[in-house]
Amino acid sequence: MPSEVAVEKKKLKNPPLDIRYLGDRVLRQPTKRVVKVDSDLRQLVREMLQTMYSADGIGLAAPQVAVQKQLIVIDCEPDNAANPPLVMINPSIKELSRDICVAQEGCLSIPGVYLDVKRPQVVEVAYKDEYGCPRTLKATELLGRCIQHEIDHLNGVLFIDHVENTLALTTELAKYGFSPQNVKPVA
Ligand code: NI
Repeated sequence: MPSEVAVEKKKLKNPPLDIRYLGDRVLRQPTKRVVKVDSDLRQLVREMLQTMYSADGIGLAAPQVAVQKQLIVIDCEPDNAANPPLVMINPSIKELSRDICVAQEGCLSIPGVYLDVKRPQVVEVAYKDEYGCPRTLKATELLGRCIQHEIDHLNGVLFIDHVENTLALTTELAKYGFSPQNVKPVA
């Protein structure tokens, strides 16, 4: 049975939601736990997925569409119609590996900017799925990185806050019209 949140993986001329960009305060505001997983929430999930596919993204967090809820959607295989997207409600990180790896990241809220970010290689996360079912997942590589990036959004953290090469960061942000004043370095 296809999931109630399934949408066609294609670009829409008029995506249902507006993505907010770096500099918008909503990206830095705290989110609230989802208390009720119902059909209204699943409608929001569908709209987030349509908006994500339309923007060629592989992940989207609710604050990026100005919704202050602990909700993320991920699809690391947007060109594979058979791969179901991942919906995580109230996700919490249970464990991070000590092993660190570096890879380039981008973000739909900071279009054009791609920079290296260090992250733990493996993440274990607990969450509820789109039916409110509690689940856990251990992920690595692209999916593991994507999960960490999206959960950061729920805490008002952006990938640029993790970038260690400040010269590259300033240069790239300027190139795409963003101010370095919008960076809030972690630790
Ligand atoms: Ni992002």
